Amino acid sequence: MKETLKIFNNSDCFIEGWYWAIPAKELRVGKVKAVNLLGKELAIFRNFEKQVIAVEAYCPHMGAHLAEGKVEGDGIRCFFHNWKFNNQGKCIEFPCLNKSLSVNLQVYPTAEKYGIIWVWTGKGTPKTLPFVPELQTEECEVIVSSSFTQNCHPNVLTINAIDAHHFNTVHNLPVEIDFETEQINQNAIAFNNKTRGGDNSFFVKLIRPFYRNEVTYKICYWYGSTGIVTIGPDFLHFYIMFASRVIEGGKTAGKTILITKKRFGLLGWIFNRIVLWLTGLVGNYFAKGDTRVFQTIKFNLQTPTSADKSIIDYIKHTEAQQAFTWGSWERFTKIKS
Ligand code: FES
Ligand SMILES: [Fe+2]
Repeated sequence: MKETLKIFNNSDCFIEGWYWAIPAKELRVGKVKAVNLLGKELAIFRNFEKQVIAVEAYCPHMGAHLAEGKVEGDGIRCFFHNWKFNNQGKCIEFPCLNKSLSVNLQVYPTAEKYGIIWVWTGKGTPKTLPFVPELQTEECEVIVSSSFTQNCHPNVLTINAIDAHHFNTVHNLPVEIDFETEQINQNAIAFNNKTRGGDNSFFVKLIRPFYRNEVTYKICYWYGSTGIVTIGPDFLHFYIMFASRVIEGGKTAGKTILITKKRFGLLGWIFNRIVLWLTGLVGNYFAKGDTRVFQTIKFNLQTPTSADKSIIDYIKHTEAQQAFTWGSWERFTKIKS
């Protein structure tokens, strides 16, 4: 039964969803890359129609790795016996054989957004691609700023952003953060800060004119793996996406993506560079201070307090999602003891 499965912080499985694969800039037309995504080996290429195609890596003839192959037209040719597969994964050429066979490669849906190539891991029609809630319909400018790995599961890493208590103890934030939970859809959940607090702090007094009500601080999580932080004064919000996925050994590999709304013209371009630079500074502030925890933590919320409510809501949210087995991408049925 699904209810008995443990999905949160379980590296035997992952939540069905969109996962970051590689930065879009790293895949030029005619190039192919090997990517291990959630334990499955993929070959991802950009064909000469500029489409990004993700296929299972091993050739259905004899198992050669297709990332060693060559992109041709809309498809890819295996380097070993030169079979050619089109962008649907169908084998369309069998050199030196005088008959054709019915052979297909598994193709996975892809998308390009926020400077990243995303791969859909689910069985059916892909669901919504992660988006920044305030920028859902906006054209954006982004910087894929850095890669990170951590010695813990992505769930444990990403809940750091809603661990209200630790803002005061680790980051010395002079404001008490208190979150309100907002279910965006079945696969996305957001936590919005609703406190004004910190009025005794010089820092808060200084920035208070820039806020109508609460200090803007919001996190939106997609598929239990991609977290988007929205922070800043009312007139200028900063958006930082932490896209992550679970890798071998239950660890995390991720990308930090700085995002802003696209502003046009030369001034807009300059303004965007400045905003993205500032966003990078904010992102670094978040990344600092916690690394030590992630090296050694053995997550076990034995003594929850009222400040941990958001974390509990997040755990319930992850448990309610569809999970697949890490490596095989089959439906997850194993219960972790
Ligand atoms: S292994 Fe790919 S064509 Fe033979
Ligand atoms: Fe933190």
